[in-house]
Amino acid sequence: MLIKSPKSWELPERLVTSESVYMNRCHFLKKLGFAGAGAWGLLSGCNRMKAGSQDAPKTVRDTIPAPTGIYPASRNTRYTVDRDITAEEIAASYNNFYEFTTSKENVWKLAYQLKTEPWKIEVVGEVNRPQTFDVDDLIGKMPMEERIYRFRCVEAWAMTVPWTGFPVKALIDLVQPTSKAKYMRMLTFLDEKQAPGQKQQPWYPWPYYEGLNMAEATNELAMFVTGIYGHALPKQHGAPIRLITPWKYGYKSIKSIVKIEFVEKQPKTFWNDLAASEYDFNANVDPDVPHPRWSQATERLIPTGERVPTKKYNGYKEFVAHLYA
Ligand code: MTE
Repeated sequence: MLIKSPKSWELPERLVTSESVYMNRCHFLKKLGFAGAGAWGLLSGCNRMKAGSQDAPKTVRDTIPAPTGIYPASRNTRYTVDRDITAEEIAASYNNFYEFTTSKENVWKLAYQLKTEPWKIEVVGEVNRPQTFDVDDLIGKMPMEERIYRFRCVEAWAMTVPWTGFPVKALIDLVQPTSKAKYMRMLTFLDEKQAPGQKQQPWYPWPYYEGLNMAEATNELAMFVTGIYGHALPKQHGAPIRLITPWKYGYKSIKSIVKIEFVEKQPKTFWNDLAASEYDFNANVDPDVPHPRWSQATERLIPTGERVPTKKYNGYKEFVAHLYA
């Protein structure tokens, strides 16, 4: 049976399904043996997650670390943005971190369960100096600085955030990839006890994994980030260390990294394995490439909801256009 439905980018955004709802429906539909799009309406309530617990922080403020140690790091003014920085409590209470929940407003209430000290990152694969770093030692070795970047999710929402971290290239220089290294693959932690979303959503291929090619990884914009708003990362933002690539959609910016592997072949990625046509390995922020479920022509600023035109490469053309020429 062929059902004619409007293209998703023709729909108003409130009618377009979010990633999480979409994936959960897919799971249940598969279980029930449904294939037709008409069955979706029946299953719209299945995505509700339990939020919070007795030990949960009471307010989002409770999740925000004090500025100690290297924070605040000095700001590198080479990276400026022509719009206001998003208020910290807004950024800290609207997150995608499916390991905890798919409900953006509730991630901060659950992510406190993640134990981030001590935290090791293993760097392996095609490198001359494979090693395991304690994240605090790594911070001590790296050129830490603050940069204000635009942040753009593929769901079309956008923020402006001051991150603290170091260029990915600084780590690459330390481990010295061999000539066979063509890609950098990254992996998030796997622990169902700490991350209820990993247990409650077994249809996702945990742990979260992402990748960059070496030209992207060594681009000056690519950062490993350990802080935000002048202090260490709160857990909902991917403590203690995550990736930021501001010219790409947010799904690339993998959180709470435990392993980095240099490889010869293009690695698989979490979202691409789930929906290859929607999450291309090479995708960049681009108003002219509509996502099947979210028009990318404009973006929605958080928290005002104001819609502004999307910039190609999220406004970072001068830094990255040559990578895709
Ligand atoms: N990393 C992990 N491990 N798990 C996730 O669910 N979500 C991604 C990315 N990194 C995600 C992740 C997506 S879709 C986005 S938009 C950003 O994290 C959101 O980052 P923020 O919550 O700090 O704004």
